[in-house]
Amino acid sequence: MPRFVTVANTAEIGPGERDVFDVEDMYIAVFNVDGTYYAIEDACTHDDGPLAEGDLDGFEIECPRHGARFDIRTGKALSMPAVTPTRRFEVRVTGGEIQIGLED
Ligand code: FES
Repeated sequence: MPRFVTVANTAEIGPGERDVFDVEDMYIAVFNVDGTYYAIEDACTHDDGPLAEGDLDGFEIECPRHGARFDIRTGKALSMPAVTPTRRFEVRVTGGEIQIGLED
């Protein structure tokens, strides 16, 4: 069972929006796609590019540095030059708060 940490209120990240949070020495990108939240580490596994600054197409985020694509639902790398997944985190909404699940 992960430990859940609040990062924002739901009102702060509307549908189609995203934001990045500094959570315990890690940057975590949170996306709202049609009212559902997804969270991945804001770090491309190719060379640490800031994924949340890239274009989102459906559930695919494109790294702004060299164009690798990742699935924000799973963290899976979908195209070169990235081959390994980025971390994804469980997300839950409780009392209007967006919470990220961290594994200790
Ligand atoms: S740092 Fe993301 S594709 Fe190179």
